[in-house]
Amino acid sequence: MSALRVLKSAEFDLLQIRRDFPALHQKVHGKPLVYLDNAATTQKPKAVIDAVSQFYRSDCSNVHRAVHALSERATNAYEAARRTVQQFINARSEREIVFVRGATEAINLVMNSFVRPRMKSGGEILISVLEHHSNIVPWQLLAEQTAARLVVAPINDDGELMLDEFEQCLSSRTVFVSLAHISNALGTVLPVREIVQMAHARNIPVLIDGAQAVAHAGVDVHELDCDFYAFSGHKVFGPTGIGVLYGRENLLDEMPPYQAGGDMIRTVTFEKTTYNDLPYKFEAGTPHIAGAIGLGAALEYLKRVGIDRAGAHERGLLAYGTELLTAIPGLRMIGTAREKIGVFSFVLEGVHPHDVGTILDRDGIAVRTGHHCAQPVMERFGVPATTRASLALYNSKAELDALANGIRRLQKLFAISG
Ligand code: ALA
Repeated sequence: MSALRVLKSAEFDLLQIRRDFPALHQKVHGKPLVYLDNAATTQKPKAVIDAVSQFYRSDCSNVHRAVHALSERATNAYEAARRTVQQFINARSEREIVFVRGATEAINLVMNSFVRPRMKSGGEILISVLEHHSNIVPWQLLAEQTAARLVVAPINDDGELMLDEFEQCLSSRTVFVSLAHISNALGTVLPVREIVQMAHARNIPVLIDGAQAVAHAGVDVHELDCDFYAFSGHKVFGPTGIGVLYGRENLLDEMPPYQAGGDMIRTVTFEKTTYNDLPYKFEAGTPHIAGAIGLGAALEYLKRVGIDRAGAHERGLLAYGTELLTAIPGLRMIGTAREKIGVFSFVLEGVHPHDVGTILDRDGIAVRTGHHCAQPVMERFGVPATTRASLALYNSKAELDALANGIRRLQKLFAISG
């Protein structure tokens, strides 16, 4: 039987899903691992590990170059992964799927090849307060270099983007809008469909940073109608170092290459080089072949589990965990949007987040502490850092119980020693 086993049951079989992820079954400091750092990176199912291993064990070769059997197998697997991505996010064509290193590179590609040539002095790029640094700093760099301005749409005390205020930030000076689909630090789901409509009503193109979305919500770029969509493979059960830029074909077509080298050319002479077709024009050099194949396997896995079933399971955990954690005295939840995914970002009275993370780790519980690469959103809430527990489809209520118990234990410890 294929390693890509089909889940027969229409039910969400949590035990089976957990068996699919080898890394979950280990002890850390003598305790069963409770992995709650999924917004940073997700664990990988056997299907992904096997697909990557299969490539290196038997198909390892470069793509698009040679006529020998291994190269043909590698090329077929690489391009099959591209088709999987295309279908998964409902892009119209494989030409609209560019493999990149991750969401960060996708945003930098769009900044350099699409926005930079259109930017004029006094032009504006609109983002929001809750962006990850990867959707702030590239635009700051561009603004510095082109005398443009970064405009930042505000959020409310629940961590929600306010559409009226967002709309007021749009003007005849706005050249580009770049927003997160889901906040990594708060879990807020942004109303991206409405955002795209508002921007398009003024002919302003939009990029959606979907790094936190693809593992948790069905993404349909056709329905969203965004111009660009960026995500990373490792946050959706795929390998690190691989990601995707979706771009509308007509826009990608008119954009200059981002990087130059092999595979992105059609002909080269010292007088003139002509560029390859889409998407290869944007894939200079040997790509992360195994990564793309692994990402394809991850998306196929998620399809078999069922993104809707996984989403329903995570919503159940979000409700359970919210009740459990907000009942803890001294715990303040940062990010309480009505539309959010399973991210619990919190501060504990009298205990620094770094200590929370270190003590929870002794209980085998992995959470992230710090500013989560989103310093402006921390500043918005008046905290330097939070502890963040973030869920994936393989988490359980028992793991949230372990987290809540761990927090209560460490509070006692600090009360005694404090
Ligand atoms: N963006 C990743 C996170 O939120 C690294 O933790």
